[in-house]
Amino acid sequence: MSRKSFVIATVANCLLTGVLFAQSQPAVLTIHADQPISKVSPTLYGLMTEEINHSYDGGLYAEMVSNRTFGGSWAGIHNWILVEEGNSQAKIAPDSKTGPSEALPNSLRIDVSEASAAEPAGVLNEGYWGMAIRPNTTYTGSLYAKEDSASVGPITVSLVQNQSGKVVATATVSGVTTDWKQYPFTLKTGAVEPSAANHLVLTVAHPGTLWLSLVSLFPPTYHNRANGNRIDLMEKLAAMHPAFLRFPGGNYLEGDHIPERYEWKKTIGPLVDRPTHPSPWRYHSSDGLGLLEFLESCEDLHMQPVLAVYAGYSMAQEHVNPGADLDPYVQDALDEIEYVTGGTNTKWGAIRAANGHPEPFHLNYVEIGNEDFFDKSGSYEGRYSQFYKAIKAKYPDLLLIATMPVKSIRPDVIDDHYYKRATDFFHDTTHYDKTDRNGPKIFVGEWATREGTPTPNFGAALGDAAWMTGMERNSDIIVMAAYAPLLVNVNPGAMQWETDLIGYDALRSYGSPSYYAQVLFAKYLGTGTLASSLQGAGPKFFYSITKDEANKRLYLKLVNASSDPQPVNVEFPGASLAATATLTSLIANSTEATNTIDNPDSIVPKESTIHLSGSALHHTMPAYSIQVVELNER
Ligand code: AHR
Repeated sequence: MSRKSFVIATVANCLLTGVLFAQSQPAVLTIHADQPISKVSPTLYGLMTEEINHSYDGGLYAEMVSNRTFGGSWAGIHNWILVEEGNSQAKIAPDSKTGPSEALPNSLRIDVSEASAAEPAGVLNEGYWGMAIRPNTTYTGSLYAKEDSASVGPITVSLVQNQSGKVVATATVSGVTTDWKQYPFTLKTGAVEPSAANHLVLTVAHPGTLWLSLVSLFPPTYHNRANGNRIDLMEKLAAMHPAFLRFPGGNYLEGDHIPERYEWKKTIGPLVDRPTHPSPWRYHSSDGLGLLEFLESCEDLHMQPVLAVYAGYSMAQEHVNPGADLDPYVQDALDEIEYVTGGTNTKWGAIRAANGHPEPFHLNYVEIGNEDFFDKSGSYEGRYSQFYKAIKAKYPDLLLIATMPVKSIRPDVIDDHYYKRATDFFHDTTHYDKTDRNGPKIFVGEWATREGTPTPNFGAALGDAAWMTGMERNSDIIVMAAYAPLLVNVNPGAMQWETDLIGYDALRSYGSPSYYAQVLFAKYLGTGTLASSLQGAGPKFFYSITKDEANKRLYLKLVNASSDPQPVNVEFPGASLAATATLTSLIANSTEATNTIDNPDSIVPKESTIHLSGSALHHTMPAYSIQVVELNER
């Protein structure tokens, strides 16, 4: 069936359904397993992340200490509290006159007037809505410190339970001098209950003045990377079988103002040399998860990077004029590409090697800007073209993504964004059916059904699944797609954007129903679509049929967004299929049903076996269900 006749058949089918068929009549879905229609993009499903909703700080990035550098717009000592045990006495204040490096000129000054071993004084850090403690675990920490001439040290560093006040791990930092220096420490827990209700305490037992900065504490991380990511969240991302990661944003790339853009050069190298920066999502970014860490995450999850470069527009309607003014920004992007892909004989490749990664990364796609249709000056035409020419001149094989249509140059790919209600997605599943196959490819770089907070409910998952059937059918032209936003810290005040795929607190994380829909669609992707036709289905029934040619497997994705069951007879004329098939189901009783941090597994995929009758499958989809049938050719 051609794409055009598919549209006509679908529309006709919807009309007929309303008039002639009750939904108890089985729909008839005919699939021609021997008639491939188009290729499925192997990179169709990937990830998009940015610093929003505490996605990195207080999220993926495993750092446990919040406001570790006392700088930027974080009001100095936010999340740090004075500790005065017994009758000890001390004062704390942010100090902008001394810090451990040029990049980190601030510190926390602690003036202790009275303290003893029995009654120490100092500070505590509350973490990101607590600190996750697990039993028999080693936490790796370090801090930068200096003291005045009097000896206030050593510093006792302890993890303490909020409710009991019990110390669950402790270490001593000795030898602090009058010069800034880094001091490592480790904290080991014993047989404690896992909990997020903990904090970090740093105290001294003598009067004097102590300055602290870059106080850091990490649990074990994914693939044991120093300065790495949370294991549970990386495992959840890995289960999505992502083919790529679009980073670093989103609005986070642009910043509200030009000086607040994502400056990649300030996110590489030792943490002490990263100045941190204000993000547009109303909190300061530590930049601990910097450019190299993004690339290493790609390596860890076998994803290709889709690198978004700042293109001279920030969200408060600030833009850089194309021409000489834009040249430094173009050069910055060229340097960034060299940092990612260059050999160690190049300037930026050598810096990457010095940062710990001599091997270049493979890069296919570079995105120029983000949502530049918001730039009312209309400067994107000139800005895109200037970036395009400079990048193609040096890197002709790179595919360059535009964030809106441009006329003077044909972009390789256009990035389309969709945030909709489920009903709108139901009505838009044929969106790309008629798109010109000779134009630029499509990257659906951000999309989501926005129903449910903080994470999508089942109604949203149905909207998402319906939309994904349309993307799969058109994945000859849609080369990549990514749900956004991906991550949300569910603690009060942590979220800036409702409806995010994966929720977490300091200790736990969970996948939303939409997350599981993504997992299923990506797991059963297939390599090509097959000819098919549908008759007699209700208007909220959607499907996608793909085949994995190498493994001779058919993946039938079915979506019933109706409150009524949907019987369907699936016929495979001429096909020789194994008599049993695997059915994976994601089902809920209501569109409002969802998963939460306290009830994370309410809606999860369940597998069963179903049986074919000859070359047909007689199946009834439950109300509100997303199902994948995996069939094997004989
Ligand atoms: O995903 C949230 C925001 O939505 C992104 O930062 C931006 O690109 C879009 O407008």
